[in-house]
Amino acid sequence: MIPCVSWLQPFLALISSSLLTRGQICPSSCLCPDHHTVNCTNQGLTRVPDPIPLGVRRLLLSNNWIPWIPSDFLVLYSDLVYLDLRNNSLSQLEPGTLSTSSRLVFLDLGSNNLTEISSGTFGESRSLIKLRLGNNPYLNMVSRDAFTGLTSLRELELERNGLTALDVMVLESLPSLRMLRLDGNPWLCNCHFAKLFVWLTENHHKLPKGMEGIECSLPMDGRRVPLSLLSEDSFQKCRGTLTLTDYLIVIFSGISVSVAAIVASFFLASTVHCFQRLSKGSKGDEEDGND
Ligand SMILES: *[C@@H]1O[C@H](CO)[C@@H](O)[C@H](O)[C@H]1NC(C)=O
Ligand SMILES: *[C@@H]1O[C@H](CO)[C@@H](O)[C@H](O)[C@H]1NC(C)=O
Ligand SMILES: *[C@@H]1O[C@H](CO)[C@@H](O)[C@H](O)[C@H]1NC(C)=O
Repeated sequence: MIPCVSWLQPFLALISSSLLTRGQICPSSCLCPDHHTVNCTNQGLTRVPDPIPLGVRRLLLSNNWIPWIPSDFLVLYSDLVYLDLRNNSLSQLEPGTLSTSSRLVFLDLGSNNLTEISSGTFGESRSLIKLRLGNNPYLNMVSRDAFTGLTSLRELELERNGLTALDVMVLESLPSLRMLRLDGNPWLCNCHFAKLFVWLTENHHKLPKGMEGIECSLPMDGRRVPLSLLSEDSFQKCRGTLTLTDYLIVIFSGISVSVAAIVASFFLASTVHCFQRLSKGSKGDEEDGND
């Protein structure tokens, strides 16, 4: 009896371990160094591998050709803490895809082909601390409430994108921000930039290379200058000068005032004329009555 049990032991161990790891199958062409890590770096993948163990916490998918993330991805892998999608072919993020990730702390979407970060992209990601969005050369639009809800975000990378402008609201909505990268973007130092300039001046300690590291091109001749050479006075003209919309409003209101004046004087003139005729008429009546 006893020798039989000892003979069975390794066999039982094998069965139980294979049962235990049933939900832990490592995707082919990936490495799973521990129960919570799936490493598919540099495997020429053209889509997110399937199946990934549901309990995955660290998912490394960098240096592949993945063009999109399924919209239920973070619903499925809700334990994800660390997601690295650096250097893939992502061109857009489906609305809501990343908005359910309540545990995600680190997200790298750098070196992709994103064009726009629309509002609510990261909705409920309250745990997110580091967000990397640099090196997306066509990224030229960050919606003003793109990052609202990211209350824990400390590090935001937006360097070497195609940004010419950024609504300062985007940054004002990040209460925990400590580090911001904005260098290597084709910023335009026009009047729209003035508000961002003021914010950057007040928060220059959050920029790794300070104001020196960021350049913008001058509206007059396109010459690029580091922000450290500019001051709030450089944008002083913006306060005095009127924008095109201001001009249109002024012109339009001018026109409507004159139209109103013409209509009013016409009305007045005809009323006066009318009264004159009326009083003449009644005088005539009186004269007629006297006859
Ligand atoms: C992931 O795997 C690659 C080899 O494919 C290796 O070079 C890299 O160090 C691994 N990363 C981690 C965090 O395990
Ligand atoms: C980006 O990924 C490709 C493979 O998909 C690789 O050949 C290239 O070296 C990677 N670039 C960087 C900067 O890691
Ligand atoms: C990246 O996006 C741009 C414009 O949206 C497109 O012209 C280009 O082909 C894309 N590149 C890749 C590698 O997908």
